[in-house]
Amino acid sequence: MRTLTIRTQRPYNALIAPGLLDRAGQEIARVLSPCRAVLVTDDTVDALYGDKVLESLHRAGFDAAKFTFPHGEESKNMQTYQQLLDFLCACDLTRKDILIALGGGVTGDLCGFAAATYLRGVRYAQLPTTLLAMVDSSVGGKTAVDLPGRKNACGAFWQPSLVLCDTAALDTLPEREISNGLAECIKHAVIADAEMLPLTRLPVADYVELAARNIAVKERFVSQDERDTTQRQFLNFGHTAGHAIEALSGYQLRHGECVAIGMVLAARIAQGLGVCARDVPAAIIQSLNAARLPIHCPYGPDALCDFVMHDKKRRGDEITWVLPERLGQCRLVPLPVDRLPALLRMGLTA
Ligand code: NAD
Ligand code: GLY
Repeated sequence: MRTLTIRTQRPYNALIAPGLLDRAGQEIARVLSPCRAVLVTDDTVDALYGDKVLESLHRAGFDAAKFTFPHGEESKNMQTYQQLLDFLCACDLTRKDILIALGGGVTGDLCGFAAATYLRGVRYAQLPTTLLAMVDSSVGGKTAVDLPGRKNACGAFWQPSLVLCDTAALDTLPEREISNGLAECIKHAVIADAEMLPLTRLPVADYVELAARNIAVKERFVSQDERDTTQRQFLNFGHTAGHAIEALSGYQLRHGECVAIGMVLAARIAQGLGVCARDVPAAIIQSLNAARLPIHCPYGPDALCDFVMHDKKRRGDEITWVLPERLGQCRLVPLPVDRLPALLRMGLTA
């Protein structure tokens, strides 16, 4: 088993090993004494792993109930959030108790946001079951739901108390979802760990190593800047255009697929501005191809521009772009919003 400590204001561990869901209750009980618990999961993950985790919680002495919602990004909204809060009230959950997110990034973000806000904050654990959630969203404490047309527009920074990555859960994950997670791995490689790129090829040879390498990269940025004002912004590589593409697709494209396209776009902008050489976008595209990820943007600059203008990363009249200098190193470049149409055209030109 690999254990990484996330050195936030309130540090916590991320454990990585196959089989962790079978002993989830036992591992959570090491961090806090058995109490009332609400397991939050979507219908797909519930059918696969819900009973196993609930039984493990009961065996460890937790008084656990389960809240299930329909899978998919469409559920990451205020309505599901309200239903979850109603459920927590009905369970009479108190500040001594815990929420447990079992699932992908949608479940983690939704459950984390409820944990951040219910009673002004209760503890929660992340039990990620997608590759994307293991390598990225379960760590770092960004929680949110979407508002109409605005990705992650309502949220909070709220760190979990424990992260359990059971890599055996990836056995049931469809290949498209594996690729989806590999996009965030390629992002981490480009911003901080170029030597990790060979690990991101399909078929993945070692998920424990892959998750550990990625959590280590994420930890490095999050521990320096928990609230995303300086260093953590590097983790937004590919997300400026990526979030716009995701919203424009009506969430039919997966988050990682949109980040993949967004990374190509940012790399071309970097090349256009002279921040990197021509071989950098080419190498990123090669890695995305090896992970079976899309690289072509289905939308034009005008459509993208409308959404990027409303992105929460905009600060006044500037948007800070994360642009690659070379593989393993990026630069934060604040650029005025009036240059956005020209930049997007540059990014969309091969
Ligand atoms: P997801 O949670 O929708 O999961 C993808 C699909 O896989 C779902 O249909 C789910 O039911 C299914 N699934 C989950 N685990 C499974 C398993 N083991 N076997 C079979 N099916 C399984 O999506 P995701 O890609 O995990 O997460 C995307 C979300 O994460 C987006 O909302 C994105 O904004 C968010 N995100 C958050 C952060 C953060 O730092 N908080 C970082 C990156 C992404
Ligand atoms: N996924 C970007 C971040 O956690 O900051």
